[in-house]
Amino acid sequence: MPRLQNKTALVTGGARGIGAAIARAFRDEGADVILTDIDGANGQAMADEMGAIFVRLDVSTEADWDAVAERFPAIDVLVNNAGITGFEGPFDGAPPAHDPENASLADWRAVHAVNNDGTFLGCRYAIRAMRAKGVGSIINISSRSGLVGIPMAAAYAASKAAIRNHTKSVALYCAGQGLAIRCNSIHPAAIMTPMWEPMLGDGLDRPDREAAMVADTPLRRFGDAAEVAALAVMLASDEVAYMTGAELTLDGGILAGSAATPGG
Ligand SMILES: NC(=O)c1ccc[n+]([C@@H]2O[C@H](COP(=O)([O-])OP(=O)(O)OC[C@H]3O[C@@H](n4cnc5c(N)ncnc54)[C@H](O)[C@@H]3O)[C@@H](O)[C@H]2O)c1
Repeated sequence: MPRLQNKTALVTGGARGIGAAIARAFRDEGADVILTDIDGANGQAMADEMGAIFVRLDVSTEADWDAVAERFPAIDVLVNNAGITGFEGPFDGAPPAHDPENASLADWRAVHAVNNDGTFLGCRYAIRAMRAKGVGSIINISSRSGLVGIPMAAAYAASKAAIRNHTKSVALYCAGQGLAIRCNSIHPAAIMTPMWEPMLGDGLDRPDREAAMVADTPLRRFGDAAEVAALAVMLASDEVAYMTGAELTLDGGILAGSAATPGG
């Protein structure tokens, strides 16, 4: 029997990358999927391909969430996946600085608007949309960057750390309300998606850049979006009904040790 039969799931940022992989895996497991994104063209095409409903949703915009709540007052699963690093571009010249000394307040806020406001608004919608049944699963896509400092992507790292913590507040709040609404965070690292394109480029040195980026990863490769989706399916299913407030890393082993580990 499919693991998500009779469940309705909403996925944000589903037009490509990890969100698209999660939406596809949910469909494969029998869920009805509402695939959302700010990218209307690719979002619609992706939804059509997998038999999902597409809705344009900018996660940082409260009015967009209000419209979603009106159209879909009840859901079983929400994946807060949409996120940005601040390096998406295109830029006039060099990408903006995102280190703690030189980042602009506008660039800092832009990252937080999508990653944090989006996750807050999504969780708020989901709690309300799951309250009648009293059961549901909220899955927040944080990052390895939410668990360690990233000097050159400070806003991204801080925003992902906030997602980790908000996940635990939501989990405890729902449990305290007597609701079986679970909330957990996934912390991927180096998953090969279009998010990496600006950093990898399409020059002849691309293979070298790829290898350099995973040189410190114990499994020495990028992860696949389908591997994140497999974890999301488990969290969305009833198989782990006792898991809430948890943070699950999916990072090829990076966080298992430290660069200073004796003996390499
Ligand atoms: N790829 C990785 O290595 C990696 C690692 C850790 C965490 N993550 C996280 O996983 C999530 C997905 O990453 P990805 O690699 O698939 O990224 P991606 O850039 O390939 O896709 C992101 C999607 O989100 C959409 N989006 C951007 N802003 C939006 C907004 N305001 N409202 C709605 N949709 C919006 C984009 O249109 C795009 O379809 C992000 O939260 C990211 O931070 C990714």
